[in-house]
Amino acid sequence: MSITANDQTKSFCILTDNTEYRMKADGNGILKHIWYGNRVETDMEYLLDFHDVGFSGNIYTSAHERHYSIDTMPLEYPASGCGDFRIPALTVVQSDGSSAADLRFVGYNIRKGKYSIPGLPAVYADENEAETLEIYLKDIASDLFVTLKYGVIARYDIITRSAVISNKGKTDMQLERALSMCLDFTYGEWDRIYFTGRHTMERIPERAPLMHGIQESSGMRGTSSHQHNPSVILCSRDCTETTGECFGAALMYSGSCKTQTEYGQLNETRLVMGINPDLFSWELKRGEDFYTPEAILTYSGSGFEQLSHNFHRVIRNNVCRGRYKKTERPVLINNWEATYFDFDEIKLAEIAQKAAELGVDMFVMDDGWFGKRDSDTSGLGDWVVNESKLKGGLKPLTDKIRKMGLKFGIWFEPEMVSEDSDLFRNHPEWAIRIPGRKPSLSRCQLVLDMTRADVREYLYNAISNVLNSADISYVKWDMNRSICDWYSSVLKREAMGEMPHRYVLGLYELLERLTSDFPDVLFEGCSGGGGRFDAGMLYYCPQIWCSDNTDAYDRTRIQYGTSFIYPISAVGSHVSAVPNHQTGRVTPIEARAVTAMAGSFGYELDLNTLSDEEKSAVKNQIIRFRRYNKLIHNGDYFRLSSPLTDKFAVWQFVAEDKSEALVHGMIYKTESNMLRYPIRLRGLKADTAYRLETDGAVYTGRALMNGGILLPRSMGDYSPIEMHFVEIK
Ligand code: GLA
Repeated sequence: MSITANDQTKSFCILTDNTEYRMKADGNGILKHIWYGNRVETDMEYLLDFHDVGFSGNIYTSAHERHYSIDTMPLEYPASGCGDFRIPALTVVQSDGSSAADLRFVGYNIRKGKYSIPGLPAVYADENEAETLEIYLKDIASDLFVTLKYGVIARYDIITRSAVISNKGKTDMQLERALSMCLDFTYGEWDRIYFTGRHTMERIPERAPLMHGIQESSGMRGTSSHQHNPSVILCSRDCTETTGECFGAALMYSGSCKTQTEYGQLNETRLVMGINPDLFSWELKRGEDFYTPEAILTYSGSGFEQLSHNFHRVIRNNVCRGRYKKTERPVLINNWEATYFDFDEIKLAEIAQKAAELGVDMFVMDDGWFGKRDSDTSGLGDWVVNESKLKGGLKPLTDKIRKMGLKFGIWFEPEMVSEDSDLFRNHPEWAIRIPGRKPSLSRCQLVLDMTRADVREYLYNAISNVLNSADISYVKWDMNRSICDWYSSVLKREAMGEMPHRYVLGLYELLERLTSDFPDVLFEGCSGGGGRFDAGMLYYCPQIWCSDNTDAYDRTRIQYGTSFIYPISAVGSHVSAVPNHQTGRVTPIEARAVTAMAGSFGYELDLNTLSDEEKSAVKNQIIRFRRYNKLIHNGDYFRLSSPLTDKFAVWQFVAEDKSEALVHGMIYKTESNMLRYPIRLRGLKADTAYRLETDGAVYTGRALMNGGILLPRSMGDYSPIEMHFVEIK
């Protein structure tokens, strides 16, 4: 059993293979957090020793125990209003207008298997693979109940958290804040890492020591966003890839998220995460429940590498679903950077033909195939083929492409509408706008009101009609703006604050319906590249276009940041033309290829424009990728350098049985009389001999992990690295 409870002491212990999580309901029923960290198998409560701290008051029944304050002790799910002055996880406006909840323990339940969450994505697991702990809390003065849920997958050192807020009273309440989790630390000086950035430069890790007070990453864009990825790492000051303590949390949510840390008066740290309360309120009517999204937590006592491996394994195996969870993804060619909006079926067929000759598996037709769509100013919402571009509709094109031996994929941006579209002319009320105000436009487009059932029904029918009209194996689900002007004509005034969350629920409902009705279609998420790259979307789409930036140098940094939380199989990554369209940079085609291979691999250019030498390079890259595909997608990933500070980016994949390893990367600049850099490999078997395939040289794992291997001599800038080591049996 991973979860144990002691009924006498009301203590709870969650054990995973390497970690331990402890909490306890004390004599007053206050649920204290006791420990999260390495396995200790001891009651760690001795670490909690408080004295009377002025201005940190006491609950009424402990008025004379002045050391006893909920303002100083570590709590499992703090609510506002009753004496804990730190950031709360829960704020409830009671029916009398007061904002207070004093949550006390009333019971628990432990069962096999992993809980699920109605309407929201959640980690799933077999009955024997996971356990669930539910802890029941109740406000002492009202019929507000909170169920804290903990899911455990012991072999991945993963604990998930979510809360259900229930109004069992006779009057309505209002939620102003209902976060997914709180983690309190009484000890430690921590750094926090947020994954921040902007369009075409997303998820760049930023590490800073916690200062007294609150620091936060707080998204307001209605999506998880390029700017504020819903993930965080807290780590010891000395934490590196292979040493030190770190805690990671990733929210399975695709809307606005808030992550906050508070470094408090006693040098204690609180970490909370959940739906951003700045864009949230919820009428909790009597008899109703509110479900928070799920947070996935892990701890590593041996640096970031283990933390990432834990996240990668759980996301790959217990978040991603469907046929493509395990099967190899097709190598695809996408026409976006090859043609933008300027194409017809002849041009597309030429691109596809060359791709087929060079070994590509699937052709993806990007934006511009529907409605009146010759630029990004019109057409969104009209999901019918533009026959002036594609004569005779989709079928003749897909048939032609199928005959070349390629699968066919197609782009949609379902949640959007252009003002210049039939959909908008027929249903202006479906676009999110505030009556009496001009809406904010972004890329000239408006967002559809996904809280409306009729909008979702329209989109379901429009998309399924297209998918049924031809042989289509893949959908790129794009979303190209941030959301504001929140107003829905189907919501009451009091419920308008619910709209951002209801939008996400509507999106999930539609995705669930389409992915289950089209189980053989591979859905790839996208939002101007990686603007909605989160574990919630990965529940529906096993891969997400990582960034609109296809420049290989920038991609080493974007993919480096992404890899802390998200598995390589989730990263959509393509070789594109040079000079690169986003940066103007010229990088060698092999550097572009090894970078794109750290993901779900493909091309995004017209291969006809390449020289013969480059074409044979492409052919060879595809052969190599197929060979490495399992290793890359199912193996363990190691960051061997930091592309943010080092002169090179080097990363490594190691097979689960350690029988092979692939080192990929890029030396950024070549200098004359260049120094040679040895790079230490990781995760090999020490006493095993490995052969480097390129020159047949043999090294022991011990040598490679201690002395390392010299990076190859580089010529020119962005010089690619590829070294494949195979165990000699
Ligand atoms: C977004 C996507 C791109 C492409 C364009 C099409 O920016 O991220 O890959 O699909 O839209 O408009």
